[in-house]
Amino acid sequence: MSLIDDARAVRENAHAPYSRFKVGAALRTASGAVFVGCNVENVAYPEGTCAEAGAIAAMVAAGEHEIAEVAVIADSPDPVPPCGGCRQKLAEFAGGDVQVTMATLDGSEHVVTVADLLPGAFGAGHMERT
Ligand code: THU
Repeated sequence: MSLIDDARAVRENAHAPYSRFKVGAALRTASGAVFVGCNVENVAYPEGTCAEAGAIAAMVAAGEHEIAEVAVIADSPDPVPPCGGCRQKLAEFAGGDVQVTMATLDGSEHVVTVADLLPGAFGAGHMERT
């Protein structure tokens, strides 16, 4: 099963009664393990979480920290891009060259890198004075 297929499958479990926009995310780590996540909305809207955040949380809970590949899928007219916050979350665990495949349910795909998604990213180096 491809990473997009994993994302497509977990998307079915999304809890999105408010936006009605279900998103699935899957990521492969350096070890080859796959972790998945879906968006989980809340009646207190800001408490909702994105699919990518769920997959990252599952990865870290399993003791892994190195993302090798990412896939995101939604029923959108164009391949769905990670939101700004999720771009920063991905950059925490993925090098700039890591590929992010964005997909639609009807089969469109667009591949970018983490660096494409977050140019000029804030990093640990910005907190060093000397
Ligand atoms: N959403 C994600 O889960 N990932 C994205 O990359 C874009 C947006 C979710 C958040 C919210 O539950 C719904 O999509 C509408 O914004």
